[in-house]
Amino acid sequence: MTTPANLADFVAWFRLVTPYVNTFRGKTFVLAFGGKAIAGPLARTLAYDVNLLASLGIHLVLVHGARPQIEAALREKGLPSRFHRGHRITDAETLACVVDAIGGVYLEIEALLSQGLPNTPMANSHIRVVGGNFITARPLGVLDGIDLQYGGMVRKVDGEGLKAQLQLGNIVLLSCRGGSPTGELFNLPMEEVAEAVAIAVRADKLVFLTDSPGVTDEAGSLLNELTADAASRLRDADWFSNDLKRYLPCAVRASRAGVGRVHLIGYDVDGALLQELFTREGIGTVISRESLERIREARADDIGALVALIEPLEEDGTLVHRPREMLEREIEKFSVIEHDGMIVGCAALYDHGGGVAELACLAVHPAHRQWGYGEQLMKRIEARATGIRRLFVLTTRAVHWFIERGFQLETVEALPEQKRQMYNLQRRSKVLAKSL
Ligand SMILES: CC(C)(COP(=O)(O)OP(=O)(O)OC[C@H]1O[C@@H](n2cnc3c(N)ncnc32)[C@H](O)[C@@H]1OP(=O)(O)O)[C@@H](O)C(=O)NCCC(=O)NCCS
Repeated sequence: MTTPANLADFVAWFRLVTPYVNTFRGKTFVLAFGGKAIAGPLARTLAYDVNLLASLGIHLVLVHGARPQIEAALREKGLPSRFHRGHRITDAETLACVVDAIGGVYLEIEALLSQGLPNTPMANSHIRVVGGNFITARPLGVLDGIDLQYGGMVRKVDGEGLKAQLQLGNIVLLSCRGGSPTGELFNLPMEEVAEAVAIAVRADKLVFLTDSPGVTDEAGSLLNELTADAASRLRDADWFSNDLKRYLPCAVRASRAGVGRVHLIGYDVDGALLQELFTREGIGTVISRESLERIREARADDIGALVALIEPLEEDGTLVHRPREMLEREIEKFSVIEHDGMIVGCAALYDHGGGVAELACLAVHPAHRQWGYGEQLMKRIEARATGIRRLFVLTTRAVHWFIERGFQLETVEALPEQKRQMYNLQRRSKVLAKSL
């Protein structure tokens, strides 16, 4: 039951999610997962989460693999499972098993997405799932003298056809297979299909569900964010799981080819997809071409985000109130820090003449504190303060923060004349200053 205490949490949480909802509407995400994710106990809840993403107006392409199901089909027929350099050697008998297994998984996912029982997250949802011949394949051919036969690679993707389906609000479900212009069917690596599709539809996100919680370093610690270059340096690390070894090179290529963000998350955590997409910390690893953090000077179109950031701090008295018009007038005095396209911190520099300036309105969103953003902003303001010998700050709540960063307590009398006259005695802010 929802109690008043957790009702407040719920409301706060729901509001926290709003920026993501607005950012994601109309965006295209490709979700890629192996057959294990579908064979596991969380297949149903994964379908719930896919349904939720679709309901938020996100365009979705799902790409599935079927490795364990293919293995089972081969075992049943008493056929060997043979690989060369990571590729399945697919003769005609093996291909028949591949077709059976892939078909089974496809239908299973389609059924999961078609649920509609009352009292489940799927109630009242009307997801239309479509498949089709969007992937053209070609044979891998002979590698090191070994003929991979019906083992293939992606030759081309019908990106326009996929986008047309997405525009209709359909979820596109693709399997790890493709036809060739000669009319033959080829078994394809799921991760390569996902990579090619994400590039062809210019996806905003490509999410791999993997057998590991994300990319880890040698000590086993999860790496939350990586640039494509940093991820590329890590590929083939000995400590990587099988999925990671296969998916990471595709993730790096997709990121370099312009896919906005590539995420690698574990498939065995309930709700991993939602945690990764709708929280600042995420749950796995996100790979981007450039660093997700950016510090820059503020622009006029940042005003709305700045108001949202500082208003709660003005309301609780931490920051002095700045009317919107004042922000508009003084926007060039502000520097902001962005994380993943969202403004999460700001600071301003007011020059009072005579080599004296004020660091003002330093604020970091509560969900993004302790990440060093405050310090980065302070350094940015100091770097902007050319010709300034003394930098002062007025604060009610962060005295120690500034003292630990080289500021010293001063009296109100030490303020420049004009500022001293405006000093708000009721706020009783502390005055601190630093020589630059
Ligand atoms: C002060 C503020 C900007 C720091 O932002 P931040 O990004 O969390 O700062 P950093 O990550 O660079 O520094 C974090 C460190 O400062 C400490 N810290 C954070 N706020 C503090 C405060 N008000 N007083 C003393 N120390 C503080 C943290 O405990 C942490 O120290 P630790 O790593 O030893 O635990 C942020 O707390 C904020 O927005 N506060 C409200 C606005 C405000 O008071 N602004 C100053 C007046 S202009």
